[in-house]
Amino acid sequence: MPRLAQCYGTADYEDAARRRLPRPLFDYICGAADDEKTAAANVASFDRYDLVPRYMADVTRVSAATRVLGCDLEWPLILAPTGMSRMFHPDGEQGVAIAASDAGCGYALSTMATASIEEIGAISAGPKIYQLYLLADDALNFASIDRCKAAGFDALCLTVDTIVAGNRERDLRSGLTVPPRLTPTSLASFATRPGWCLGYLGGGKFSLPNVTADGGGDLSTLAAFFASKMESHISWERIAKIAAYWGGPFAIKGLQCADDALRAADAGASAVIISNHGGRQLDGGAAMIDIVADIVDAVGDRVEVILDGGVRRGSHIVKAIAMGAHACMTGRPYLYALSAFGTAGVERWLGGIKQETLRTMALIGCATLAEVSREHVRLAGAAPA
Ligand code: FNR
Repeated sequence: MPRLAQCYGTADYEDAARRRLPRPLFDYICGAADDEKTAAANVASFDRYDLVPRYMADVTRVSAATRVLGCDLEWPLILAPTGMSRMFHPDGEQGVAIAASDAGCGYALSTMATASIEEIGAISAGPKIYQLYLLADDALNFASIDRCKAAGFDALCLTVDTIVAGNRERDLRSGLTVPPRLTPTSLASFATRPGWCLGYLGGGKFSLPNVTADGGGDLSTLAAFFASKMESHISWERIAKIAAYWGGPFAIKGLQCADDALRAADAGASAVIISNHGGRQLDGGAAMIDIVADIVDAVGDRVEVILDGGVRRGSHIVKAIAMGAHACMTGRPYLYALSAFGTAGVERWLGGIKQETLRTMALIGCATLAEVSREHVRLAGAAPA
């Protein structure tokens, strides 16, 4: 197991997480749907674009500060909503939210989190977004929104790409249960990961406090209860109703085409998060960096565009901004850092990718995000203009 001080890029944290987590849990984070082709393409497609440095610019001071979804960010990254973080490390969502706030980036709390809206509201002074899954009963949706307003959340995001569960074969093969349980299949993988076992057993019982207002109940019962309440048809009209009830900065997460992005604007969204859920839902769709420019061109200044999926390096963030994105989201990398090292891991990983972003901006000759443009990116292998 590498030490934290030996970790630099995202791949180092992924390697450390692989060594600390029982295999079924690592596979749950890393895995994706079907043949995992879209998940792999999300990352690999960043290599299809080359950065084009411009020299002789004054980059003595570089700032990546921006404002997205009504949030002031020191740099254009938001940690994507992910469920059940305390399964990976007892520091859980609280640790991630504190690290994000300290690093000056955004944090999105999942409905399926093991920390409550109120806990995150109380411990994080940074930009906070709540991710909602639409339930059939609007009284329940509105109750969650009321909790977010009271807890001081800045923005709301509605995830729309989980209308049915993705086919995640790694989880089927490993027999992963939530919460993790000792079974003949899981026994060996738990026995070889004593560090994780001690943390998990010492972390106390966890629940899903955003699923019901009192947060009570056994986790698997709660998850089943939640699944039974999910809306089976998310319509644009319902979305407009949610946006109006919230009344603040509102994003739809999981869109992949320009027409849906325009309809999102009509429905009251202030941002679209173009995303394929990290390839965990539909396999066979496009990589996000390949579609971002078309969507930006179609929506103009009607909505902000946030790219989610495959971001592993600061240079990926800069490429997305060059294509016209306002910010990026990322999920697995911070979960690897959390799983391996807790809050300190997320802090160090965030510090690293923030410096990569600023360094890349300096190296291409941009002192501010407004200066990063399509001039700074071209298709790999294309003849220079
Ligand atoms: C997710 N994601 C997710 N999205 C969401 O809207 N609500 C959720 O509860 C979850 N849960 C979740 C758990 C885990 C373990 C992962 C890896 C992902 C998807 C997430 O928000 C984001 O879209 C992807 O992680 C982006 O892809 P990368 O950055 O992981 O490549």
